[in-house]
Amino acid sequence: MMENNHHVDFDVNIAQQSINEQQLINPPTIAVVYHSNYGHTRRVAHSIVSGIVQEGVMAQAIDIDELDWDYLDNANMIVFGSAVYMGSVTAEFKQFMDSTSKRWFERGWEGKWAAAFANSGGLSETVKQTV
Ligand SMILES: Cc1cc2nc3c(=O)[nH]c(=O)nc-3n(C[C@H](O)[C@H](O)[C@H](O)COP(=O)(O)O)c2cc1C
Repeated sequence: MMENNHHVDFDVNIAQQSINEQQLINPPTIAVVYHSNYGHTRRVAHSIVSGIVQEGVMAQAIDIDELDWDYLDNANMIVFGSAVYMGSVTAEFKQFMDSTSKRWFERGWEGKWAAAFANSGGLSETVKQTV
């Protein structure tokens, strides 16, 4: 019985070690790409990033005015965030969406995890619609 337990522990350790080695070679990264004219959505984006980093995962907040396409292309997950202007994403965020059309067409981001958030002045319905 003792020996069985010992054997199981040993296997778990090896499995854990190989996961850690894999993560050292290619650590998972999350990009939080956002647009904010007045700073509210930026604050949300930065809090999301600090929450992720506290969990030990690499993450970066990326303002769409300073896009880092390599980081987005290589990220395992992209979180999209926009302020709500006139019931939808901001014009600048829509422009960013349009600029991903080649990647969309070529399925360049297939297999990534994704999430979205929006930040509005009040109406939660407009947030849901925007997300
Ligand atoms: C041009 C403009 C349009 C807006 N339209 C909406 C809207 O349709 N619904 C809403 O709830 N809030 C609306 N708001 C309020 C913003 O969503 C809110 O102030 C948000 O926190 C701004 O985010 P930001 O500071 O990241 O730019 C609007 C604000 C602006 C400046």
